Amino acid sequence: MAEENKSNGKNGNQVGLLEKVTTGVKEDINALKTDIPAKAKDQIEGLKDPTKTQVYTSIFRHKHDDTPRNRALGVLSNVFLHLHPAKINRDAVRYSYTWGMGGITFYLFIILTYTGVLLMFYYHPSKVQAFRDVLYLEHDVPFGKILRNMHRWAAHLMVIAVWLHMFRVFLTGSYKKPREFNWNIGVLLLVFTLLLSFTGYLLPDDQLGFWAVTVGTNMARATPLLGHEGPFGPQLGMTPYNDVRFGLLGGSIVDANALLRSYIWHCIGIPIVASVLMIVHFWRVRKDGGISGPAQVMLEAEADKPRRGPKAAGE
Ligand code: HEM
Repeated sequence: MAEENKSNGKNGNQVGLLEKVTTGVKEDINALKTDIPAKAKDQIEGLKDPTKTQVYTSIFRHKHDDTPRNRALGVLSNVFLHLHPAKINRDAVRYSYTWGMGGITFYLFIILTYTGVLLMFYYHPSKVQAFRDVLYLEHDVPFGKILRNMHRWAAHLMVIAVWLHMFRVFLTGSYKKPREFNWNIGVLLLVFTLLLSFTGYLLPDDQLGFWAVTVGTNMARATPLLGHEGPFGPQLGMTPYNDVRFGLLGGSIVDANALLRSYIWHCIGIPIVASVLMIVHFWRVRKDGGISGPAQVMLEAEADKPRRGPKAAGE
């Protein structure tokens, strides 16, 4: 009998469980009846004011009222904007002070990277094809002439801009304490900018580049210790076939190996090193107290107000 009750559901325990489940489900349905309209109302309200939705607040984590605090938060919580400081010394970023030359040098580097990658689609670093590829770019590829010339002109301008930037830093004494380390990073950047220019010169495989690199690498013969014509070079066993010039050219003459080596240094090696150095350079500008800047100047309108913001470094 007991077995029968169990199987047909008349067992006391099973009935209790069944009731519990039934009432539970009923409660859930009742709750849903009140919850769903409430949630729907919330969602409709959200559509009226999207800034209150969960999706919006997960992207923008603070209000956008125009207060100094909110403006600073806006910069700090945005991955792109935070590359710039939230607050700066107004006088330090005047063009009359910086000439904008560091920034212009960097923008030229971006243009060179962009146009350089596009040029790579058309160029082969081999003696058979290099010069033909350049002719093809100049005469047949749509926009090829302007692409090549953008790369060439940006390269010339970058060399000029980096010198002017260094000159400005020197004139404003910005190499002094606490910026000595960044000046040295800058010197490396200058060297790598010149090396980028020099390695690019050979790539068209024309007479101009060939002789420029012949002259340039011939100087390496006279490198102290490492050149076969340099001080102590011969004594250390240097010959035209094992010295630093041989290493640069991948041989004893400017030929196919030199072209390939120039290409790899120009498109991969030097841009990577220069990019890393630029990241360090910009990071140090921030860590050294921002752009050095002249002593802060107060507007007439601000004369009676207390001064705000960090002091310029060295002030
Ligand atoms: C690829 C090359 C370079 C890039 C992209 C670059 C970029 C910059 C930028 C954007 C700044 C911020 C201030 C400004 O724009 O004037 C700066 C500051 C500075 N740079 Fe360069 N720079 C380069 C090469 C050099 C060189 C060759 C030197 C010196 C040998 C140098 C030394 C400095 C110093 C000391 C500062 C801090 C200046 C200050 O606080 O007033 N940089 N650089």
